[in-house]
Amino acid sequence: MKSTKTSLLTLLGLLLLSCSTPQKEEAPSLKKAFQDKFLIGTALNVGHNKGTDSLGIDIIKHHFNAIVAENCMKSMHIQPVEGVFFFDEADHFVQFGEDNNMHITGHTLIWHSQVSDWFFTDDKGEDVSREVMIERMKNHIQALVGRYKGRVHGWDVVNEAILDDGSWRETKFKEIVGDDYIKLAFQFAHEADPDAELYYNDYGMSNEGRRNTVIKMVKELQAEGIRIDGIGMQGHMRLDVPDINEFEKSIEAFAALGVKVMITEMDITVLPFPTDETAEVSLTAEYQEVMNPYTAGLPADVEDAFNKQYIDFFSLFLKHSDKISRVTLWGVTDIDTWRNDWPIKGRTDYSLLFDRNYQAKPVVQQLIDLTKK
Ligand code: XIL
Repeated sequence: MKSTKTSLLTLLGLLLLSCSTPQKEEAPSLKKAFQDKFLIGTALNVGHNKGTDSLGIDIIKHHFNAIVAENCMKSMHIQPVEGVFFFDEADHFVQFGEDNNMHITGHTLIWHSQVSDWFFTDDKGEDVSREVMIERMKNHIQALVGRYKGRVHGWDVVNEAILDDGSWRETKFKEIVGDDYIKLAFQFAHEADPDAELYYNDYGMSNEGRRNTVIKMVKELQAEGIRIDGIGMQGHMRLDVPDINEFEKSIEAFAALGVKVMITEMDITVLPFPTDETAEVSLTAEYQEVMNPYTAGLPADVEDAFNKQYIDFFSLFLKHSDKISRVTLWGVTDIDTWRNDWPIKGRTDYSLLFDRNYQAKPVVQQLIDLTKK
């Protein structure tokens, strides 16, 4: 009897305690705010894929519903030597996406960068024939797309094949195979997983020249009955680049092709940029202190400009949410951003939505508020 009374009292005590403790409010989440608009994605690095960056992983689970592999699926990483595959990190990446019910993008199958020389040469170091090159492309694509068949939802099949002025980039793929290397890449990917979505991805998509060539290329693929589902606009921005009106023209023109439009690699550098000529990934410049001005923190006026650029572009994305299927950030926190090292190594940049202490920047709430307007 006594023990029943005690446990009743304990129960009552616990009940009272739980009523007096204020309910913890669920922290705002990007993916929830944008759920009726488009997917919100981020790029996963080795710390995320291997589970060592647990704070980063918490942010990813809370805010994002789409993921892309920042590096681990690039040919140099996954097949550094012909026929020798390192799938371990990519396996973890895909598993993480599945465990968390996320849209998974594979990045990237055919790209002129982060590709080993073996791809193009024989054992004497000479360029291989067109036939051998096509065989290698096919094997590489089949190995990756085939391994993750039914699990990776979409692939960046070809990355950065066009230059700012709209001319074709003179890559080894183009030189050895010829202009149809793009078409072949899409065909091989489709054969390896007929259900996977297939994308063309590039930077500087607001340039009129590149825009027109992308349109021409997509129309040609469509006319030949080759599957292409979407166009990825990378979105590596600066405080004053790109021109938002030109960017909007590209969103509209790409959507008019009947394909999905995706913002695939968004970040906004706040640092001085060494040139205006190109945003090419091979661009490098010497480190100088004057080019790294914010090592002690970001001045308020620069932070304002940074917030404004994110808000302006997200407002544009919301305006076109009927055309845009996904907006993906190129990383989680400013510790990870590749812009700390590109185009100048060893700088302190602030290009992403979460700071170096894994805290959401004020702009995150401002972006969430845009969805309520
Ligand atoms: C970058 C990665 O973020 C870096 O870690 C790596 O050192 C170089 O590549 N366009 C792309 C991405 O399509 O794959 C690039 O990623 C950034 C530019």
